[in-house]
Amino acid sequence: MALVPMRQILDEAARGGYGVGAFNVNNMEQIQAIMEAAVETHSPVIIQASRGALQYSKLIYLKKLMEAAVEECPQIPVALHLDHGNGPEACRTAIELGFTSVMMDGSLDETGKVPNSYEQNVSVTRQVVELAHPFGVTVEGELGCLGGIEDGQGAGLSDSEMQEHLTDPVQAEDFVAKTGLDALAVAIGTSHGAYKSGIKDPKTGKILPPKLAMERIHQIHAKMPTCHMVMHGSSSVPQELVEMINKYGGRMPGAFGIPLPEIQDGIKHGVRKINVDTDSRLAMTAAIRKVFTEQPEKFDPRDYLRPAREMMKQVYVARMKTFGQAGHATDYRQMTLADMKEIYAAQA
Ligand code: G3H
Ligand code: 13P
Ligand code: ZN
Repeated sequence: MALVPMRQILDEAARGGYGVGAFNVNNMEQIQAIMEAAVETHSPVIIQASRGALQYSKLIYLKKLMEAAVEECPQIPVALHLDHGNGPEACRTAIELGFTSVMMDGSLDETGKVPNSYEQNVSVTRQVVELAHPFGVTVEGELGCLGGIEDGQGAGLSDSEMQEHLTDPVQAEDFVAKTGLDALAVAIGTSHGAYKSGIKDPKTGKILPPKLAMERIHQIHAKMPTCHMVMHGSSSVPQELVEMINKYGGRMPGAFGIPLPEIQDGIKHGVRKINVDTDSRLAMTAAIRKVFTEQPEKFDPRDYLRPAREMMKQVYVARMKTFGQAGHATDYRQMTLADMKEIYAAQA
């Protein structure tokens, strides 16, 4: 079985009223953990790689690992997606590698750090739609900017600047019509990484959840009920993993994520793709730190990578159940890029 176009996974999720986790990967253990979780929960899944991940894995290794994943689990619909493509060339490279979906993040310029104008965003996103659809490849675009910069991705906007860059629902309608994209990433106050809230309870000093503009998602869904929305920066940063990391020698004070009920509310209002990277990083780090601290004599990588893979799998299983994709792997016949190509051609 081949990789499926992401568009099919999103269309089916909309039909079934659930969301699908899009999990970032850099290595074999992450891919295996996702596939084990998908098999256990019978879930369709989106696996995504950033430009950094492609560089780290030297492109061909990631491609071959993904081929192994779909060969081993033919019953699982899997889409392979480029996360935060910074221009048509990055998207073209991913399409040539066999990705079935690309993100053209035209909300920022090519450096990935400076907000683009609306016109620049429309133009570059449209260009990628024209490039990708003839291959049957799905396109995600982004309108508005996320906060933060801690992983090198993002404009480094402060909390107040971020408020000015939230997705405008009226502009969203125009953006979708002008670009012809398949999925719209929205900015509602999330940011990448493990520190999504600087808000402290004045009485207890405890970190409070970040303020999210969920009403923007509600408004966009009311205007465009068939538009598939994407939530970036959606790791929940489980406090038990942060505590475990800190207990075993790490230093992550104030790490805090997106509460799962907020994501579930988004799913009720048209969010179909939920991007999660940080939670997997936390799980891997916590498990490895535990082995290194409790068994300092260990030096065989399998002794710490096996528990790391298992801990990531537990996170993926939990997210698949919470987002609702669990149980939907065999609801539909898997499409190919050739099938999708015909659909796009008929719509043109
Ligand atoms: O966009 C953010 C993702 O977490 C990917 O991060 O660029 O460090 O691979 P990365
Ligand atoms: P997190 O850092 O919250 O996992 O977000 C990942 C993401 O949005 C990847 O595009
Ligand atoms: Zn992102």
